[in-house]
Amino acid sequence: MGKATAVSTVARGGQALIISRSQEKLQKAVLEIQKQAAECCRKGQKLGQVQTAVLDVTNEDAIRDFVETLPPVSDDDEESNTWDALVFSAAGRAPHGSITDLPIADTRELFETKFWGAYNCAKYFGPKLTYGGSIVFVGGVLNRRPGINCSPLASTNGALEGLTRALALEFGDRLRVNCLSPGFCETERFDHMDPVKKAQMLANTADSLPLKRTGIPQDMGEAIYHLLESKFITGVVLDCDGGHHIRQYANRNTDPMRKND
Ligand SMILES: NC(=O)c1ccc[n+]([C@@H]2O[C@H](COP(=O)([O-])OP(=O)(O)OC[C@H]3O[C@@H](n4cnc5c(N)ncnc54)[C@H](OP(=O)(O)O)[C@@H]3O)[C@@H](O)[C@H]2O)c1
Repeated sequence: MGKATAVSTVARGGQALIISRSQEKLQKAVLEIQKQAAECCRKGQKLGQVQTAVLDVTNEDAIRDFVETLPPVSDDDEESNTWDALVFSAAGRAPHGSITDLPIADTRELFETKFWGAYNCAKYFGPKLTYGGSIVFVGGVLNRRPGINCSPLASTNGALEGLTRALALEFGDRLRVNCLSPGFCETERFDHMDPVKKAQMLANTADSLPLKRTGIPQDMGEAIYHLLESKFITGVVLDCDGGHHIRQYANRNTDPMRKND
């Protein structure tokens, strides 16, 4: 989703700085972003550029030190060399299971990246961003529409949504702060899965959604870009989930409201 946001930005001539813990992955990502941005940009549009930084978002000292030496937005941008947005979409492994079975350490690990990483980055990047800029966190549908055995993601996403509203109030007109709440989206997160099981999971989920398909990274990149650009939106959680947050859970065959489906 971070990569897709960079594509949306670069395709419109904006500059992106992408962060991960792996230099190798970043180098590959830069090529993908440039290629996809070139494919989808408007005719005559000059493309932006992508910079990279290897950082662990859970390392408070590293984030603080990096922000002190934040590279300029670009060499040729004379108007402003200050970054105007932070998009936080990192998350580690997402544990699933009953609260009685799951080791607490697994949920703490998720919080460490997805919540504390976001908190760290907002704390240190926030004051460095241009006045009137913005922050977008990425939460997820499982906060307000949890599935069984999803307490780690449900609670982490909930914490991020709370942080969104609190920081939107705190940063006021200095920075808008919003949160994207994605539903199922086919990203690299699921690359480790058995392809047959993955296809089944995608098909089952798609069938349960009003829009009858699962998300693609481009859906998320464009929605995040919309939040970045919308100058009168702050403190909101935007659902981008094909209608997951309103989906019908009752079984098609036993739900009296769906007799005529
Ligand atoms: N995909 C979905 O279906 C879905 C649905 C709802 C919500 N979400 C949420 O949406 C967000 C983005 O998901 P995604 O599917 O794009 O995830 P992803 O494909 O797993 O990408 C996550 C990125 O975060 C980076 N990252 C992880 N830990 C990091 C750390 N400590 N420091 C720096 N970078 C770190 C990873 O890079 P490195 O490993 O190289 O560091 C990776 O590039 C997550 O918060 C996820 O929970 C996803």
